[in-house]
Amino acid sequence: MTHTVLTFLDRAFPDGRIEDATKPQLFATDLGATRGDGVFETLLVLDGHVRKLPAHLARMSKSAALLELEVPDHEAWERAIVTALDEYQRVVGPLTEVVVKLVATRGVEGAHEATCWVAASAPAPAAKRQREEGIDVLLLDRGYDSDLAERAPWLLLGAKTLSYAVNMAALRYAHAHGADDVIFTSADGKVLEGPTSTVLIAHAEKDDAGRLTLKRLVTPQLDSGILPGTSQGALFAAAKDAGWELGYGPLEPEDLFDADAVWLISSVRLLTPVNHVDGTAIGTDPELARALTAELAGLFDKIA
Ligand SMILES: Cc1ncc(COP(=O)(O)O)c(C=O)c1O
Repeated sequence: MTHTVLTFLDRAFPDGRIEDATKPQLFATDLGATRGDGVFETLLVLDGHVRKLPAHLARMSKSAALLELEVPDHEAWERAIVTALDEYQRVVGPLTEVVVKLVATRGVEGAHEATCWVAASAPAPAAKRQREEGIDVLLLDRGYDSDLAERAPWLLLGAKTLSYAVNMAALRYAHAHGADDVIFTSADGKVLEGPTSTVLIAHAEKDDAGRLTLKRLVTPQLDSGILPGTSQGALFAAAKDAGWELGYGPLEPEDLFDADAVWLISSVRLLTPVNHVDGTAIGTDPELARALTAELAGLFDKIA
């Protein structure tokens, strides 16, 4: 079993309260456990550095605001992260690659105070393999229109809530049908996102000498009821500086099949190439796809 280091945010312990992750720590009446009512973030620590911390904390504040949930300020989270990572280094080992999860629930029923903790653990080994070998995905219908988010704010589309049972069920469905992952589509036929990742596609053009003359990176419309990815945001900024054209959908399944390369990207799994969608191979030039992956992965690696 992987070792998890737990640090609770607690008014009585300004730097966070370390607890034993092998012992029960939550009340059975915590609304995070009974209703999935809360928000979370998953971050990656590489060689001691917490990647994209400001973007994750900003998104957590946005998610919490959508849920009308009061959570501790960024400084309190930062102190708890430092405490968790110090403890991880002490009891587990070096901070070469660590997954840090920030969780805030609506707290114990009737208490009106969020329950908040930081959990640090080692990443799952599958992520590295998938990055190297690529993945096969299924398109699965999420059942609502891409313009629903604005019409129905109570659905909390675009917030990173703890209610991930549907996302996990979609992944199980994919695994049971021979695929590794999922790309959700909307009822009006738009490409949305993965259950735990953002979709990216690329088009490239070469001149007669084989030099790339155009590189275009596209992600689905950010306001189509998806979670805006911190990885997508950071990679787009880096790609723009490196001369890529950028686009924000709308994307339809045909655009995946017409692309030179398709990826799922997230903070922990990083840039993962998609080999097949619904059994159809993506891209017609594997060498070009590999070159595009290498270039974007290089840009993404450099992001703090
Ligand atoms: C639904 C969903 N979309 C996108 C992402 C990617 O977000 P990020 O790049 O910030 O990790 C995640 C991350 O877990 C997610 O759960």
